[in-house]
Amino acid sequence: MRKSQDSQIGIFDSGVGGLTVLKELYQQLPNESILYFADTARLPYGDRSPEEIVQFVREILTWMTDQGVKMVIMACNTSSALALESVQLEFDLPTLGLILPGARAAVQKGKRIGVISTPATAASNAYRHAVEEIDPNARVWQVGCPEFVPLIEQNRIRDPYTKKVALNYLEPLLAEKIDTLIYGCTHYPHLEPVLQEILPAKVRLIDPAKYVVAAAEQELEIMGLKSTQPPIPTRFYVSGLADKFAQASRSWLGYVPIVEKVNLPVVQTPTISLEVLE
Ligand code: DGL
Repeated sequence: MRKSQDSQIGIFDSGVGGLTVLKELYQQLPNESILYFADTARLPYGDRSPEEIVQFVREILTWMTDQGVKMVIMACNTSSALALESVQLEFDLPTLGLILPGARAAVQKGKRIGVISTPATAASNAYRHAVEEIDPNARVWQVGCPEFVPLIEQNRIRDPYTKKVALNYLEPLLAEKIDTLIYGCTHYPHLEPVLQEILPAKVRLIDPAKYVVAAAEQELEIMGLKSTQPPIPTRFYVSGLADKFAQASRSWLGYVPIVEKVNLPVVQTPTISLEVLE
């Protein structure tokens, strides 16, 4: 399908986390039309193996290619950390991830950088590698936070239990006297009111969403694909229960969106020829 300025930007996450990226898109690129996919049937991604995550992302990008999007923004750090490089090689579609824009922004702000993320992102060391490559003098501490995504998906932000969990996750980072904290999962900006209560005021919060959208704008300009016309309303799709996602996203969007369930295409895992390895 031919891509034009009017084509949509595809963004995806496992659930409501990507809405924090959607919000940035609305703010920074108000003329763009967006297609949002949430892989709610397989949420959370953060406990999955790298192989599973690469395969899920492959299926999503195959589907998005069929939808004719002009660009994909991974509104999911776990996918960005584990699958970006593979799918950039496999698909002829500009695809942006959150790690590099987030790491670049963090080193501008501080030298003692904490990262809160899913266990899969923390285990990948993607943020550590990205930060150290940009600034070898910066130090990085990462904490995997498995309980956050389920609590956010259940909209339990103000539950006292959530604050207890957050205190526990942030404790080792505060002990290291971090000056900067990266939201290493797109769900976590939803927790901002709770985290602000715990973090000292001098700790700078980095939301990579802001910076990936700025990078997307540059890329669209270079490709001559930036929209100049008013957008069509965002289309929302899920792999799980449409109504459940519509209700869960209401408090973040301010309205109940129309959500459609889709079946992702079955995509074979590319096999590496043994002859190539010999
Ligand atoms: N919001 C995603 C991320 O940024 C995925 C969270 C999950 O499903 O565990 O990592």
